[in-house]
Amino acid sequence: MFTVPGGWVSTETEGGRADVLGPKVARAWLTGVIATIATFPVTRALAADDGVRAVPNMFAPVSAPAESIRELSFLVLGISAGIFVVVSSVLFWCVYRYRQKPGDDSEPPQVYGSNPIEWAWTIVPILIVLVLFLATARTINELQASEAPPNALKVTIVGHQWWWEIRYPDLGVVTANELHLPVSSAGAQRPTYLALESADVIHSFWIPQLAGKTDVVPNRHNRMWVEPTETGTFLGQCAEYCGTQHAKMLLRVIVHTPQEFDRWAAAQRQPASSDASVAAGRAVFQNTACVNCHTLDGTIADGRFGPDLSHLMSRTTIGAGAATNTAKNLRAWVDDPHQFKPGVLMPAMKLDDPQLDQLTAYLLTLK
Ligand code: CUA
Repeated sequence: MFTVPGGWVSTETEGGRADVLGPKVARAWLTGVIATIATFPVTRALAADDGVRAVPNMFAPVSAPAESIRELSFLVLGISAGIFVVVSSVLFWCVYRYRQKPGDDSEPPQVYGSNPIEWAWTIVPILIVLVLFLATARTINELQASEAPPNALKVTIVGHQWWWEIRYPDLGVVTANELHLPVSSAGAQRPTYLALESADVIHSFWIPQLAGKTDVVPNRHNRMWVEPTETGTFLGQCAEYCGTQHAKMLLRVIVHTPQEFDRWAAAQRQPASSDASVAAGRAVFQNTACVNCHTLDGTIADGRFGPDLSHLMSRTTIGAGAATNTAKNLRAWVDDPHQFKPGVLMPAMKLDDPQLDQLTAYLLTLK
């Protein structure tokens, strides 16, 4: 017997691993839990500062599918909590009631087999699983069977390593990483139906306050819908590991009033800036490899490997949420995007300082 640092007593011989790992794992777990709880107000405050309504939270739904999912999760949590309370109460009661008492060294009676008990613990779990299965199947079916009403907004989302391409086929709008939607109200319902595609590997599209996760699979057309009932900005992210920068494949959903949404869409349909004062920057853009990967209205650039830049400055972040979209960050991003997002598929463009200044000045006009 020896004592592990931290005061835990182990009965393992020296060299045993599990006994040493136990307290370490417990400490790491406890630190994680405390850190998460302690930083929650900070993450909330940061999100609030940014004009963002709330941190992603599936228990605060503002859209029909997310509401059904919350109801289902309460049912599952309720049943699980009931089982937990019953099992742990019986366990603790047995441990206390039948503990060894001083002076009582006799062996307790050994009981084998009991048909009523065995039937009970076979049938009750089957019934519980059946209830959970039927409730889940009903919710899934309700969400999947929903047909798009004629006035629904249609959006195509294409997952890329590591950003989201967003296309509005009926509106002629293409953007990236920031999904703009109209709010749906009792008098004017306007759900959004999303077609999900992937350009490379499997991603998963998830905005906890609006709907559940849906995988985005190459060569497969998945569908989902949302119907936000409150305006504001909601955060989402890729929820399926898809490579080095999976963590920085973030998504913002901006829910507008119908009028604001129409204004936004009209602005996105405007031709990109052709400001003569930044002609030098536009020339830098058109003479470098930028044009192979990006699309920019009114230039020769028509690549789809990277985000459409026609209205770059209407977005609040760059690099799918890797940095805020400021002049300083934009210049640094073009200089070397890997400093924000190591492993990103955009190369450092190796431009000199005057070229970087000219190009940044041009990008800043793309409102
Ligand atoms: Cu895309 Cu993870």
